[in-house]
Amino acid sequence: MYICPVCGKNLKLSKNGYRCRNNHCFDVARNGYVNLLTTKGRNPKKAGDNPLMVKARSAFLDKDYYKPLALRAAEIIRTLLKDNPKSVIIDSGCGEGYYTKFYAREMKNAEIYGIDISKTAVSHAMSRCRQEGLSNVSFAVASSFELPFRSISADLVVSAFAPVSNDEYARVLKKGGFLVVISPAARHLYGLKCVLYDVPYENKPNVYGLRKFEKLGEEQLSYSVTLASQEDIQNLFAMTPYFYKTSEEAKKRLESLETLETECSFVIETYHKK
Ligand SMILES: C[S@@+](CC[C@H](N)C(=O)[O-])C[C@H]1O[C@@H](n2cnc3c(N)ncnc32)[C@H](O)[C@@H]1O
Ligand SMILES: [Zn+2]
Repeated sequence: MYICPVCGKNLKLSKNGYRCRNNHCFDVARNGYVNLLTTKGRNPKKAGDNPLMVKARSAFLDKDYYKPLALRAAEIIRTLLKDNPKSVIIDSGCGEGYYTKFYAREMKNAEIYGIDISKTAVSHAMSRCRQEGLSNVSFAVASSFELPFRSISADLVVSAFAPVSNDEYARVLKKGGFLVVISPAARHLYGLKCVLYDVPYENKPNVYGLRKFEKLGEEQLSYSVTLASQEDIQNLFAMTPYFYKTSEEAKKRLESLETLETECSFVIETYHKK
């Protein structure tokens, strides 16, 4: 399934790691993931979400406030794949594997590959799935814009709150393969924004330019949650873009809360390859 990020030839797993026929080698980390990110024009140590963001998101997601979304996304994916037990699924921008875990549980016989540009996130994802005893998931450090997978090899790509690549997703998907894109809806976290901003605004819809895909459907999932502690509130805040554009005064307002009620609202879009 994996291809060499240097020459594009197939990678084979041997006891020393992954190797292509041109002898490019990639070690498998102690907990089982592989780093397939090339250093071309970027510093992989700084790529993607940093360790603090990963820690905050992981701690927040582990409280299961977004479990209804994870369950619904897994159900949609299973339905699209019509329970085909041999399906190959790629979770692109998988973060620390919270959603990947639900996909792997829902489709025990599918092969699931998570990739993310952040090494910290991928390492966390691998440990999470190992702890759960899930053997149908593999993780690699890689970019969504240079996927380390053979062309026409996957049945479905899912991307949740992560960069979306029209060309790469179309390249790796089989004919008629599916794409699922999950993003925040207009009023996602509106309760949090009401604390942070005098004039809260709604999120604008994302535009992906998916020219090689045809839209099959779209559904919105909305519900209200009450964050039960200041720790949960701070973890949620740290995983949002507002963390970097909020005044000290507003941060203090947030720090004074013991609980926070907010709307969670997501859009799940489904496509197939043209
Ligand atoms: C908001 S997080 C979402 C993570 C996960 N899907 C979730 O919902 O928990 C966005 C993720 O995209 C990753 N990311 C950013 N740029 C990327 C790229 N070019 N290729 C792959 N992943 C990328 C980040 O490292 C981060 O883990
Ligand atoms: Zn190679």
